[in-house]
Amino acid sequence: MPSLPSLAAAALALLTPTATAFEYHTFDGPGFPSCYNVSRVHNATSIADMASLVKDLAATQSNPRVRAAGKGHMWYDTQCSDAWTVIIRTENLSEIGDLDLASGAESGSVWVEAGVTFFQLAEYLHARGASVGYTLTNWNITFGGSVAMGAHRSSIREDSMVAAGVLAMDIIDGKGEVRRVVRDEGDDEWLAASTSLGLLGIIARVQLRVYPDTKVYAEQATLDEKDVLDGDIYGMIAPYATANFWWWPYKRKFHHRYYDTVPASSTSQEGFQNTFSVTELEAITARTMLDSGKYLATSNMLAEEIFFGLWSKPNFREKTTNEEIKEWPVYGWNYDVLIGGLYPDQKAEWEYGLAGYTLELAFPITLANKMMKRVRQLFDDELKRGIVMTATYRSGINIKFGKAYFDFLGQVTYNTSDGADWTKGAIMFDFPSFRPTIGDHKRFNEQFYHRVANTLIDEFPCRPHWTKNTREVFTRSVKNLDPDHLRRFKAVRERFDPQGIYRNVIGEILGLY
Ligand SMILES: Cc1cc2nc3c(=O)[nH]c(=O)nc-3n(C[C@H](O)[C@H](O)[C@H](O)COP(=O)(O)OP(=O)(O)OC[C@H]3O[C@@H](n4cnc5c(N)ncnc54)[C@H](O)[C@@H]3O)c2cc1C
Ligand SMILES: *[C@@H]1O[C@H](CO)[C@@H](O)[C@H](O)[C@H]1NC(C)=O
Ligand SMILES: *[C@@H]1O[C@H](CO)[C@@H](O)[C@H](O)[C@H]1NC(C)=O
Ligand SMILES: *[C@@H]1O[C@H](CO)[C@@H](O)[C@H](O)[C@H]1NC(C)=O
Ligand SMILES: *[C@@H]1O[C@H](CO)[C@@H](O)[C@H](O)[C@H]1NC(C)=O
Ligand SMILES: *[C@@H]1O[C@H](CO)[C@@H](O)[C@H](O)[C@H]1NC(C)=O
Repeated sequence: MPSLPSLAAAALALLTPTATAFEYHTFDGPGFPSCYNVSRVHNATSIADMASLVKDLAATQSNPRVRAAGKGHMWYDTQCSDAWTVIIRTENLSEIGDLDLASGAESGSVWVEAGVTFFQLAEYLHARGASVGYTLTNWNITFGGSVAMGAHRSSIREDSMVAAGVLAMDIIDGKGEVRRVVRDEGDDEWLAASTSLGLLGIIARVQLRVYPDTKVYAEQATLDEKDVLDGDIYGMIAPYATANFWWWPYKRKFHHRYYDTVPASSTSQEGFQNTFSVTELEAITARTMLDSGKYLATSNMLAEEIFFGLWSKPNFREKTTNEEIKEWPVYGWNYDVLIGGLYPDQKAEWEYGLAGYTLELAFPITLANKMMKRVRQLFDDELKRGIVMTATYRSGINIKFGKAYFDFLGQVTYNTSDGADWTKGAIMFDFPSFRPTIGDHKRFNEQFYHRVANTLIDEFPCRPHWTKNTREVFTRSVKNLDPDHLRRFKAVRERFDPQGIYRNVIGEILGLY
């Protein structure tokens, strides 16, 4: 999945008629473009400020392009269209208010501005005895960015699309007017806004459902590959509040991670999960080994062996003492256990130059065994040619799940023209891989990754995650999407943004312009 090499991108930038156009980049930093042709980045100071900028651009420019930006936690060059674009950064729109959770109530609500991150909201809610439940993603991601792009956690039993926790949202439309859209499954505007890809406009604030805070446990088992491939996958995931697998294809093993609530009084442990931080030594060791794996399968085999060993242990510390927790299960407060964040003395792996490629596709869970066996076969086809393929990511291949949730463009929607049964939920194949820091940045046996993507898209009803796939994957995936959902989405898009100022390459690929 080649993204444009940075040299070519730089050359393109030089050729642009507007001398000022520049690249905007993802969380991985310069050299990882999310947009190629940005004319200006505006740091938004308020919702009114964003609305007035859009109004001004719409009134004074012939063909303006605008895209919001949160924390840049996306992978590829798919944020903008390739035309000259103004980026509006929402990072400082971080107000949280109107928390309404009556004592004894099962749920309540809170309003957050677009730039609020999961981490910020969790801290605010925990201090007030509340949480957002299971409609989560990682800590340093904004609500605007995650709702726009259909982000989700992993659960079959509970709603886990971030949008499923949204009760209402304010969107700045293509004329700079703020429109409120309220949850209503009978309303096409809601069904489009629920997963909008930012194409209806800038999500300015969202109202979220909240729950009383809970303590949860995290437990992990190691399984042989055949016990999953031939097993009752639904039955291993559906009983829990949230659960997933990590696949180690070279080891032919899985980690099965699951979480559920426990009475708050049952434990004094306050476990805190480390999702992405590493020490400098770990980072340098991993990078050296994986870079050599660009050429040598044995390095990748060793890496998978080491990552598997590390991932078998709890990736948690006790929050109050910062001591490592060595035994499963781990207990703690909802957010700390489900997500956590960085250990205070470590940095995120990407800050040490460990970058990845990724691919994420969702399939009906009724096809879970068939899909996983097909992937196994693709690994085995390489073996037959004498090539050993492995996971090159610290937590293996991530197999996630999603409860069915109806909207037009979401990964877990149902009632679609493919005739597949999505109502039982979805399984996601999320295949991150190390991006070598050396040479052409292509992976060991690069073609394998493209074969996996193409085979799955061509042989299964499946849907892409909207920020974890390349342009090529989106283009190939269009045939699997419901044309009627696309048509109804487009009709709403034309009402919200008739000029198409918020367009991006994904919207273009989907035929929405
Ligand atoms: C380390 C890491 C872990 C992740 N974990 C998960 C996960 O568990 N589950 C999952 O589903 N995804 C996950 N993601 C993907 C992530 O949820 C999405 O890429 C999300 O869109 C990023 O949000 P952001 O705030 O960083 O926005 P950005 O990356 O800045 O923007 C992403 C897209 O959303 C648009 N956008 C941003 N803000 C708004 C807004 N206010 N209104 C309209 N459009 C907007 C942007 O124009 C862009 O197209 C992860 C990503 C990373 C890097
Ligand atoms: C969150 O992401 C931003 C943008 O990538 C980065 O500057 C910041 O350091 C991150 N914060 C944490 C706590 O990781
Ligand atoms: C946020 O606000 C601070 C203080 O005004 C400013 O220095 C910073 O540039 C702003 N950042 C963004 C991304 O808006
Ligand atoms: C916007 O915010 C970023 C991050 O704080 C800062 O680096 C940049 O200079 C700001 N831009 C303007 C125009 O203030
Ligand atoms: C950048 O945008 C301008 C104006 O929309 C367009 O003419 C130019 O071709 C674009 N450049 C690239 C590299 O796409
Ligand atoms: C799905 O289709 C069934 C049968 O056509 C219909 O009864 C139901 O209302 C649909 N559900 C949604 C959410 O559209």
